[in-house]
Amino acid sequence: MSIQIPRGTQDILPGEVELWQYIEEKAKDVCRRYNYQEIRTPIFEHTDLFQRGVGDTTDIVQREMYTFEDRGKRSLTLRPEGTAGVARSYVEKKMFGQANQPTKLFYNGPMFRYERPQSGRMRQFVQFGVEAIGSSDPAIDAEVLALAMSIYAELGLTEVKLVLNSLGDKESRDAHRQALIDHFKPSISEFCEDCQNRLEKNPLRILDCKKDRDNPLMETAPSILDYLNEESKTYFEKVKGHLDVIGIPYVVDPTLVRGLDYYFHTAFEIMAEGEGFGAITTLCGGGRYTGLVEDLGGPSSPGIGFAFSIERLIMALKAKDQVIPASPKLDCYVVSLGEEAKDKTVELVYNLRKAGISADKDYLDKKMKAQFKAADRLEARFTAILGDDELANGKINVKDMATGEQVEVNLEEFINYLKEKTVGGN
Ligand code: HAM
Repeated sequence: MSIQIPRGTQDILPGEVELWQYIEEKAKDVCRRYNYQEIRTPIFEHTDLFQRGVGDTTDIVQREMYTFEDRGKRSLTLRPEGTAGVARSYVEKKMFGQANQPTKLFYNGPMFRYERPQSGRMRQFVQFGVEAIGSSDPAIDAEVLALAMSIYAELGLTEVKLVLNSLGDKESRDAHRQALIDHFKPSISEFCEDCQNRLEKNPLRILDCKKDRDNPLMETAPSILDYLNEESKTYFEKVKGHLDVIGIPYVVDPTLVRGLDYYFHTAFEIMAEGEGFGAITTLCGGGRYTGLVEDLGGPSSPGIGFAFSIERLIMALKAKDQVIPASPKLDCYVVSLGEEAKDKTVELVYNLRKAGISADKDYLDKKMKAQFKAADRLEARFTAILGDDELANGKINVKDMATGEQVEVNLEEFINYLKEKTVGGN
C-alpha cells in the first residue's frame, strides 16, 4: 500500500511554492524596513519550555503538543509556536546585554499543533512572526501593530480588521480574575470539564472555550476594561493614541482573549473581513508579554510580538482573488540534434548558468520536435538550437520565442549574446 501524507500537513509543489516565496520575501522586506532581524531557533525544544512559556492551562499545552521522548529519555516537543523559543534564546544568548535595545527579531518556520484539521487549521503550519524584547514603551506596541498591518497592506489585503484589547497589568488581571471566578462559580457545573478545572487556575481561559462559547454567562462575563488600573488604562490609551496618529484603524474588543497565557496589556488579532472566507477568520495574533523572559531565567524584559500563518494568509489572498506576480520563466532551453551536439549542450548550459542565465536541456534522448515542445512547456524566452553541422562550423541558432525571430550566432559569442538579451550584460 502506498504511504500517504500525514493528516493536517501539506506538500507545497512548484506552481504554489512561488506564492509562498513571494509572501515570505514581502514580509521580510517589511521587517527589514522596520529594522527587525531574522532569528532561527530549533524546531524542537525541551517540553518544559512550552509548559512554562505558553502555560500549563492552555489548549496548546494540554492537548495539542507533539511531545516525544528521545533516545536519551529527554522529553522534547515540536514547537507549537515561536515566542517561547525566541525568549529562551534571548535569555540563553544574553541578547539583553547587547547595546541596541529593544532586540527586534523576526522568524519564519514550521510550527506543530495536534488540532482537528480543517480549512485554515493544520497540524504543521508555517508561522511568520516578530518579537521586540526589552522595551515597555507603548510606541513599540504601535510599531509592532503597524508592522503586521503593513505586511497585509503590501500584499494587497485591505479587508482586514485589527482587533485590540488590553489585558492590563498584574494587578488589573488579578482583580479581573477574581471577578471572573465570582461570575462563573455559581454555575460552573453547566460548563465543560476543562472549564471546571480552569475556574481556579485560569478563569480567563473559560472565555476562550470553544465548547461553551454559547453559554449566556459568556456574554455577561465581567469585562477586563472595567478592571484596568490607572497605569494600565494610561498604557492602553498611549498605544491607541500612537495608532491614531499613524492612521492605523482598529476596533477595541474587550472579549478578545488570546489562547496563550503570557499576555499582559496589549493583545490583538487581525481578522479577515468580507466574503469567501471559512469559519476561521483570525489571520494573525499577538500581544505584549511581561513575565516570559523572567520565567525563563532572564532579567525583567518585557516584549511584544505577533505571528500569522502563511497558510491563512494564502487563504485570504485567494478569497480576494489577489493577483500574484508570475514567477520568472526559463531564459534559455538548449535543443540539440546529433551525438556531438548533444554532448556539447552539457558545457553550454553550464556556462549559461554560470553567466546568470537560467537554462535547461533534454536528458531523455528526445527527438528534436519533443525538445521544442519541452521548451514551449517551460515557456523559455529563447531556444538555442545546435546540430552537429552547426557545431562543426562553430555556430548556434538562437530563437526568440516571443517574436519567432531566429539568428545564427558564433558559438564563442553565444553566452554573451544571450546575456545581453536576458540579464542585460554587465
Ligand atoms: P497564536 O494565536 O496561537 O499565537 O497563533 C498565531 C497565528 O498562527 C494564528 O493567528 C494563525 O494565523 C496561525 N495558526 C495558529 N494555529 C494554526 C493552525 N493550526 N493552522 C494554521 N495556522 C495556525 C502565537 O502563536 C503567538 N506565539 C503569537 C505571538 C508572538 N505573540 C507574541 N509574539
